[in-house]
Amino acid sequence: MKNKHASIRLVGISGSLRRLSYCTAILRTLRDELPDEVMLDIFELSRIPLYNEDRETDDFPSSVQTFKDAVTRCDGVVIVSPEYNHGMPGVFKNALDWASQPINKSPFAGKPTLVMTASPAFTGGVRAQVQIAETLRAMLANVISFPQVVVPAAHAKIVDGRLKDPASLDFAMKAIDALVVAIKQRRLISSSDD
Ligand code: FNR
Repeated sequence: MKNKHASIRLVGISGSLRRLSYCTAILRTLRDELPDEVMLDIFELSRIPLYNEDRETDDFPSSVQTFKDAVTRCDGVVIVSPEYNHGMPGVFKNALDWASQPINKSPFAGKPTLVMTASPAFTGGVRAQVQIAETLRAMLANVISFPQVVVPAAHAKIVDGRLKDPASLDFAMKAIDALVVAIKQRRLISSSDD
């Protein structure tokens, strides 16, 4: 595993379960490019069941607990999602709904969270990105608001499971830099509270 002694630990979430997902490929590329002080684990959403509020008290799914624990333990989250029908994919919204509970005590609350979208289309999934950010704000996440990374024409930029377009990668890494700055600021604030 790369950077396994890093002091900043990120969790990456792909909004797509597709085997050859462009979004997952972008996450893998970011993981490869991180500076030594940062590491990223990609969390798979495929085991998260459909949300049912009854299961909050009765038969809470272990896969959801694992997901919530991963978000709780990390310093920041990187989301790369496709757009489905001008919104975020249902599997991804479903996972966020699980992680949103209990209300106001989500593991995402205060968590520096970076959102990117990718699409074969010219629009790069920007409509889904707005929706994802809004949902994360409802969960009190600290959504990194700049830069807003979209990767349009993703089909032409992903080769052998990696993002090969230098301009897109450079832009995405600048957003990772902004995420790392937010994480360091959060640490400073929490250490000054001690
Ligand atoms: C899509 N796609 C799509 N793309 C887009 O830019 N805007 C959209 O509204 C939609 N809608 C949509 C709905 C459904 C059900 C599917 C399956 C696909 C295309 C989508 O961006 C494309 O399949 C991406 O390759 C999906 O991302 P991954 O799986 O490659 O990460």
